[in-house]
Amino acid sequence: MKRILVTGGAGFIGSHLCEKLLDLGNEVICLDNYFTGSKQNIIHLLDNHCFEMIRHDITMPVYIEVDEIYNLACPASPVHYQYNGIKTIKTSVMGAINTLGLAKRTKSKVLLASTSEIYGDPQVHPQPESYWGNVNTLGPRACYDEGKRCAETLFMNYHVQNKVRIKIARIFNTYGPRMNTNDGRVVSNFIVQALKGEAITIFGDGTHTRSFQYIDDLINGIIRLMATPDTFTGPVNIGNPNEVSVGELAKIIISMTGSKSEIVYLPLPEDDPKQRQPDIALARRELDWEPIVDLETGLKKTIEYFRSV
Ligand SMILES: NC(=O)c1ccc[n+]([C@@H]2O[C@H](COP(=O)([O-])OP(=O)(O)OC[C@H]3O[C@@H](n4cnc5c(N)ncnc54)[C@H](O)[C@@H]3O)[C@@H](O)[C@H]2O)c1
Repeated sequence: MKRILVTGGAGFIGSHLCEKLLDLGNEVICLDNYFTGSKQNIIHLLDNHCFEMIRHDITMPVYIEVDEIYNLACPASPVHYQYNGIKTIKTSVMGAINTLGLAKRTKSKVLLASTSEIYGDPQVHPQPESYWGNVNTLGPRACYDEGKRCAETLFMNYHVQNKVRIKIARIFNTYGPRMNTNDGRVVSNFIVQALKGEAITIFGDGTHTRSFQYIDDLINGIIRLMATPDTFTGPVNIGNPNEVSVGELAKIIISMTGSKSEIVYLPLPEDDPKQRQPDIALARRELDWEPIVDLETGLKKTIEYFRSV
């Protein structure tokens, strides 16, 4: 039995990860400041004696004994990470320093939830890990993108200088039950609007693309990454290469919910990436992993969840 710390464990991805790690027979410590996460996401785990919850801000050091750390703490949607951009940068950078310091002291393995956003508005398509990205350092998304880029750099420096065992996962758009209803992410937005019969708001003309990965695939991918030999650090893309335009996604969701919503088009926000698709050759080779949940199956489960909340 391993003792595993999940920072950001009360969030969308974190709560699914805590659940899975407990199922696999581990002891799990979930650390969260509840900025975008909630007790509701983990309430069903609270009476499991192998689960512990710590209300803590990862910008401050944490002193516990652990074998593995998944560092997920950070708001992930533009509306939340732009609410206090300075705090977002501190969470990524100080959070990386604090979890790396803990990993160094306890000799534990530490995984960073990095992001496809480090590729910015990509000029290479699909994006392999070797692509350095195209990020505007001064734009409204920079607090998130540059915070994560700096976190990756810190991870690599702790690995090279201090021999800390690190793993860097570059996560692409992920969706599923327990996404926040009001954080502006496209899948949850469209489903909530469709279920309420409200107009579906597409930012741009609907031709820009994303590649959507179901939560279960992501969780399997990052657990496999954590289990790779110490010589493998990543970064490695974890995403679903099935690319779909935002306009198509809206039509699929309207049809699956049986909604009468119409589609309205609003201006595309500044620096919004026009296309996204992971190259997952490295994950296939090193993790023996690829996504298995197709869009329709994943959307069905997500729609069921939003109907129930
Ligand atoms: N969901 C995606 O599509 C996606 C894509 C790429 C990367 N990621 C990364 O995965 C991680 C989890 O994302 P998510 O979608 O679950 O988002 P989320 O907002 O649901 O979860 C983030 C969690 O971190 C907590 N948190 C935020 N700041 C904190 C702080 N200073 N101290 C302690 N806890 C803090 C929040 O309360 C929340 O529970 C994030 O690091 C995000 O950048 C997510």
